[in-house]
Amino acid sequence: MKAIVIRQYGAREVLEPTEVPDPEPDEDELLVRIHAFAINPIDWKIRKGVARWFMRKKFPIILGQDFSGEVVSVGSKVGDYEIGDRVFGAVSALRGEGSYAEYIAVPAKNVATLPANMSFEEAAAIPTAGLSALIALRDLGRLQTGMDVLINGAAGGVGHYAVQIAKFFGAYVTAICGPDNQDFVTDLGADEAWDYKQVDYTKKPDRYNVIFDTIGNRTFRESIPVLQPKGIFISTMPSPYQYLQMFLTRFTPKKSKTFLLHVEEDDLWELKKMAEADQLRSHVEHLFPFEQIAEAQALSESAHLRGKIVVQIG
Ligand SMILES: NC(=O)c1ccc[n+]([C@@H]2O[C@H](COP(=O)([O-])OP(=O)(O)OC[C@H]3O[C@@H](n4cnc5c(N)ncnc54)[C@H](OP(=O)(O)O)[C@@H]3O)[C@@H](O)[C@H]2O)c1
Repeated sequence: MKAIVIRQYGAREVLEPTEVPDPEPDEDELLVRIHAFAINPIDWKIRKGVARWFMRKKFPIILGQDFSGEVVSVGSKVGDYEIGDRVFGAVSALRGEGSYAEYIAVPAKNVATLPANMSFEEAAAIPTAGLSALIALRDLGRLQTGMDVLINGAAGGVGHYAVQIAKFFGAYVTAICGPDNQDFVTDLGADEAWDYKQVDYTKKPDRYNVIFDTIGNRTFRESIPVLQPKGIFISTMPSPYQYLQMFLTRFTPKKSKTFLLHVEEDDLWELKKMAEADQLRSHVEHLFPFEQIAEAQALSESAHLRGKIVVQIG
């Protein structure tokens, strides 16, 4: 099959389109012919070697977490799927056998069937960013109707799902994003939108039950003044500093939390249900062909992305 591999860590030049053997699925796995995959920042962070000590496979590494496609074979211990089913899902990028490829062998628990109202491209955009938003707001933030939530980086991959999921849980949503994305986040459902170039949210007079920093450029300490007495700050950046804050604030009323994404089948099904109920949509701002993977990653690295970048496999 064709795949994009890296044989060393480095700049975008290490991305190499090549032929590799087709994956051989285990008995609890599906073989999926990939139609589309999404770009996530973890992809180019791994390419740069950021997680090199945690990789479970040596070179060549196939990057990529998210995908959508069609089931082409079903392991003997998989009950719920048939050949031809349309699915979307994700694997951990750390396993080194990712979704930048024509085929992927994937445990059945890492997929759900495609939302009926979505294209392969829209569904491929969801897993990493959508699951992160769901886990952060539902599990760590324990969101409930009427809560005040601030989302920093509300126009990006994680952010644009977070706005919609926070509204799904009945929160009042304040979105922080750049000047060009104010209408975009309001259209997604945000009750207020603020431009980070004009307003520093940590200086606002308002108080929030939950602050979700999807970008990882703010800290719990900076956010303390604008948290409610039992408010929760959540960061997508699981650094030693964030884990230390998480440990220390176990003993304080205001909490700091972070997480490392773990794909759960039930969560994928929950996002599918939200999509089919028209309460979650994917904004795919850019579509690239497989051959332009370097351009797609360059755009992701620019850090000013609206919604998601998706790559189509022709
Ligand atoms: N812990 C985990 O398991 C996990 C899971 C998923 C993602 N992440 C991490 O979360 C981060 C975000 O991921 P993503 O996919 O959402 O990235 P993304 O799609 O590239 O989002 C970038 C967004 O950042 C916004 N932005 C840039 N500068 C900003 C600023 N100063 N203040 C507020 N917003 C700003 C941009 O908005 P404007 O264009 O409006 O400036 C853009 O929408 C990445 O570092 C990723 O690795 C971690």
